[in-house]
Amino acid sequence: MVSLPKVWSAPLPLKPPSVTAIYPGSFDPITNGHLDLVQRGARMFDTLIVAILRNDSKLPLFSVEERMDMLREVVRPYPNVQVDCFDGLLVDYAAARFATVLLRGIRAISDYEYELQMALMNRRLRPDIETVFMMSNEAYSFISSRLVKEVYRLGGNISGLVPPSVEARMHSRMQPE
Ligand code: PNS
Repeated sequence: MVSLPKVWSAPLPLKPPSVTAIYPGSFDPITNGHLDLVQRGARMFDTLIVAILRNDSKLPLFSVEERMDMLREVVRPYPNVQVDCFDGLLVDYAAARFATVLLRGIRAISDYEYELQMALMNRRLRPDIETVFMMSNEAYSFISSRLVKEVYRLGGNISGLVPPSVEARMHSRMQPE
């Protein structure tokens, strides 16, 4: 008989009957890359909660409430996707929502180091919550909220990078220089 190596001191809980995943982030604003991950995540998990970090030290362009409104508009086609916001540790929020998975996207190798650090720290804090990485769709792998804002501010065309409803909000919020 093959004996498996013992990895954790306490056994991990079994898979729950219904799996809830948290897709956390700043979403300032949501891009088509994020939305692609939402679509794909919604097919994998019973419930997917897109959760905005509330106490973000980066100065956001949109308030948390505006970001939640934008998210709600674009996730409407997916009945198992919810929108929420959180404060404090992500793993504590996930546990409070009975989530067992954290979903994160990886666009390029440059994302990997930061994501690995976060995933390992989160696992140390709560080994029963698993981080699942999905590779970004190659069509969106160059898009970030930061670049979208910069391109828009400098008068560049952002259509196709963010959902049309988000683009409209950008127009009403920011005047290109
Ligand atoms: O969209 P972002 O800015 O890449 O998202 C980063 C986010 C919100 C996932 C991360 O900053 C986070 O989880 N913050 C909550 C505080 C926390 O749990 N910190 C320890 C993470 S190891």
